[in-house]
Amino acid sequence: MRVLIAASEVYPLIKTGGLADVAGALPGALAELGVEARVILPGYPAVKDKIGEWRAVVELGEVLAAHHVRLIEGRMPGTDIAVWLVDCPSLYHREGGPYLNEWGHDHPDNYLRFALLSKVAAQLGTPKSPAGWQADVILCNDWQTGLVPAYMALTDGPGAATVFSIHNIQFQGIFGQDILDQIGLPPHCFDMHGLEFHGHVSTLKAGCYYADRITTVSPTYAEEIKHPDGGRGLDGLLRARAGDLTGILNGVDYAQWDPARDHLLPAGYSVGDLSGKAACKAALQREFGLAERAEAPVFGLVSRFSEQKGIDLVLGAVDHILGRGGQVVLLGSGDAWLESAIYGLGGAHPGNVGTWIGYDEGRAHRVQAGADVFLVPSRFEPCGLTQMYALRYGTLPLVRRTGGLADTVVDVAEHPADGTGFVFDEASTAGLIGAVDRAFDLWGHPAWPEAQRRGMERDFGWRRAAEQYKALFETLRGSG
Ligand code: ADP
Ligand code: GLC
Repeated sequence: MRVLIAASEVYPLIKTGGLADVAGALPGALAELGVEARVILPGYPAVKDKIGEWRAVVELGEVLAAHHVRLIEGRMPGTDIAVWLVDCPSLYHREGGPYLNEWGHDHPDNYLRFALLSKVAAQLGTPKSPAGWQADVILCNDWQTGLVPAYMALTDGPGAATVFSIHNIQFQGIFGQDILDQIGLPPHCFDMHGLEFHGHVSTLKAGCYYADRITTVSPTYAEEIKHPDGGRGLDGLLRARAGDLTGILNGVDYAQWDPARDHLLPAGYSVGDLSGKAACKAALQREFGLAERAEAPVFGLVSRFSEQKGIDLVLGAVDHILGRGGQVVLLGSGDAWLESAIYGLGGAHPGNVGTWIGYDEGRAHRVQAGADVFLVPSRFEPCGLTQMYALRYGTLPLVRRTGGLADTVVDVAEHPADGTGFVFDEASTAGLIGAVDRAFDLWGHPAWPEAQRRGMERDFGWRRAAEQYKALFETLRGSG
């Protein structure tokens, strides 16, 4: 079976969040099950540099508007997994990141940039595939590739089946109706039964409407998005398609996220010998300018700074954590007001609060390893990967009971025999502080290392998820 994974970011080529981790690891996990999985993403300059050796496969000419496009092929670093890049310098060679310009605003032509990715991916699902390789199934991810199912549905003749995976329903790919012509879709798509959403085009809705199947990244989130509270206006459509919607929990790539073989850490460790974790904690305290106190529990956070992630709840809980003798390490970037509030916290509590504003893969690993508690107080969380990483690093996750967080962390008070962390319900600073207090109560108690051990032994590897995707793809084969 041939599966094409279309995504706007793929680790280690380019990453802004968990989607990249998923798109980077799933192809290899599928390959281990005998599925031929390939990847397609935009030819951002950084990606072309990282891939190193690539070859031009075919000139595609002007696929959309007057932008010249060619398809180039390389390999995922260190593997033989084929990667296609949609090479279109006029759309992808930009300052800034994959979605935002250097001033933090959306690239104004994002609709075209990602429509192009989607259109080329869809072409690889047709018998006339310009690459000479036709996908049986195309797995599309989030709004950036939500148009793939629309293009496929509007293509005559046999073509690949499509699976649309929702990683975050908050980002809906909303644009004006006037883009339709430029992205090469007929006016009749602009309908409630199509990609119209409250008078606009939504590429996320396009994915949800036109795909043969819909997946999302945890079983709990699959339920939440069918309700008005969690569905962001798409809950009606998702309820109507409930029979086609499955929640498949993301996996963890333990080749990247395992303290026994993590080359980004100052010391390695495993469940059998945690002495390296103490060394990682001392090194983290030094790296973030904290007093080197082994007895102080360190509360770590690595996150996008956004409303989703509940960063504002943490702001209100820091004094309480310090008052009880803890320390705090915060790493991330995002909304300007949160960045400056967090930066200010570091200045206000030298020696006890360490902050780093920015994106830094090495630091992210070192916070996972050096902290004692890992904070993920999200208002909503489709899956969340960092709490699963924390489990493997012996760092007890403290999470809100939502989405994938609810599916992966077991509260030690509720389930003393199999608890792995702390779970709270109310999305408020008071709710968070309640769980923080429970962490302090457990600190120094023999139940702490027991919870650590259970967490480190949990297996959230990709195999289970890959098997579920494969089984889903099998049901579609030949139905496209
Ligand atoms: P989301 O995709 O919603 O941001 P996830 O938990 O699925 O959340 O994935 C976040 C990924 O991004 C993790 O791999 C995490 O380590 C990484 N990450 C987030 N912020 C940073 C940062 N500032 N520096 C390095 N890595 C980060
Ligand atoms: C999104 C979600 C996050 C999820 C990730 C990968 O960014 O916010 O919860 O883990 O996608 O699926």
